Amino acid sequence: MGVTIRDVAAKAGVSISTASLVLNGKGWVSDKLRKRVLQAVEELNYRPNAMARGLRARESRLLGLVIPDIANPFFPLVVRGVEDAAVQGGYTVILGNTDGKSEEEAKYLGLFTEKRVDGLIFIPSGSSERSISALGLNPVPKVVIDRALTGVDIPTVMTDNVRGAYMGTQHLLANGRSRILFISGPEDVQASRDRRTGYSRALRERGIDEELIVFGDFSFESGRKAMADCLFRLEFDAVLSANDMMALGAMVALSESGIDVPNKAELVGYDNILFSALARPSLTTVEQPAYQMGFEAVQLVLEMISSGKSTCESKLLEPRLIVRDSSPKRYD
Ligand code: RIB
Repeated sequence: MGVTIRDVAAKAGVSISTASLVLNGKGWVSDKLRKRVLQAVEELNYRPNAMARGLRARESRLLGLVIPDIANPFFPLVVRGVEDAAVQGGYTVILGNTDGKSEEEAKYLGLFTEKRVDGLIFIPSGSSERSISALGLNPVPKVVIDRALTGVDIPTVMTDNVRGAYMGTQHLLANGRSRILFISGPEDVQASRDRRTGYSRALRERGIDEELIVFGDFSFESGRKAMADCLFRLEFDAVLSANDMMALGAMVALSESGIDVPNKAELVGYDNILFSALARPSLTTVEQPAYQMGFEAVQLVLEMISSGKSTCESKLLEPRLIVRDSSPKRYD
């Protein structure tokens, strides 16, 4: 165990509360005693730990982070950004994974209140009212990442999902595709609805009224199943998936049915997770700046903590089309 405040007090020949007053910079202590305490600090090389420092300043120096699916490679990219920004600011992150369950969200949000985290970063599983009310119970500065919550005024850092899906659909249309199937994520997730809006807008601008839409839950298996279920029911020459995991599942279903990607049907995903470059054919996708989302969300929280403000401006980050073999560029 390292040097404690008890050691410093003993060395200086003062009480622990006197040593604490000097170290806190609070209360009155005679110069004589102050000097003895500071000299003991130097001689013992005393460094207060984060928790002790936080308790003194009534801060825990902890940030709570809630994510919906640690198994989806998109979220660890966000967590990395959160962690790096938190460490830079002298904070420690406590991570809670909810597996998309609102009761788990409420459990972690309650735990973070109990642990007196100084700030919260939250990726909702859906539009669950319970987690919104649980969020509201904790007055600390908070930022939502990636999936805006409707009906609450909480700053959000997310990608412009309408523009991202619009870009992906435009790319397929420019390649001469006209019957584009959209694999949506869960409808209660704002990001899914926004991506569908971008898909619909691009089709409408090209005079295409018919929308081909099937639904998944953002998982690999749901993408594979959605594709397998519609393969012989719907006619399409391209697929836009609302995330890469479903796109990779769809790729397996197409391959198992002997449908060649990209010649028979082109495929575009969303996120740009690592597996997308490793897939064969490699997956064309709309990249989200996941690391930046996490990093910037923490910076907003730390700004609110230091300024004492309870809200701030939201941030909308730019998506980027990453062209690979599942839908190569066929236009100038
Ligand atoms: O892949 C998981 C999806 O859920 C991502 O597209 C991300 O935006 C999150 O909403």
